[in-house]
Amino acid sequence: MDAYKAVIGKKDSREYTNESVPEQSLKKVLNSVRMAGSGKNRQAGRVVVVTDESRKKMLGAAGDYSDWIHNAPIVLAMLISEDAGLRPGFDVGRMAQNAMIVAHAEGLASCPVTIVRNDDALAAIDAPTGWIVHMAVTIGIAAKTESERRSHPRIPFDEAVFWGSWPK
Ligand SMILES: Cc1cc2nc3c(=O)[nH]c(=O)nc-3n(C[C@H](O)[C@H](O)[C@H](O)COP(=O)(O)O)c2cc1C
Repeated sequence: MDAYKAVIGKKDSREYTNESVPEQSLKKVLNSVRMAGSGKNRQAGRVVVVTDESRKKMLGAAGDYSDWIHNAPIVLAMLISEDAGLRPGFDVGRMAQNAMIVAHAEGLASCPVTIVRNDDALAAIDAPTGWIVHMAVTIGIAAKTESERRSHPRIPFDEAVFWGSWPK
């Protein structure tokens, strides 16, 4: 799958089958997280692969719209060090987007999830203080076919893209 197709065709999915994720595909997803560029090349991001049911539920309880995530076979907890520099969210965003696009190209479904209660999230994965569980990303085989899966419409191109300067 070419990069443009992978990006344009990706839909976030919250419903998964019980099938396990092929190990080779998961390794590619995780390596794409590792390869994400970071501010000043600090490489302050880490990923924890969560498959244990009770840990997934604890992680799900650390967000406000995430009580469903234990239904995914794999939840990736995306962490960033508190010393990550000025744009930690951008670093984690690159990690998460790499994971989701590579997952899509591998035929896997995914969804990003916001974590808001950091202490609870750290406890869910036994991570030490000094780290922020910024986002989680669910990974699995989609329960619905591509055409059954709804994607939210995006704003028109000319509302999203301005050439040269802000329009008058
Ligand atoms: C920064 C960010 C945070 C998100 N947080 C959540 C979340 O907490 N729970 C959830 O179910 N989906 C979450 N999503 C998924 C969005 O709802 C989804 O990307 C959006 O509805 C577009 O979906 P689509 O690409 O399938 O059209 C999040 C997405 C982003 C980019």
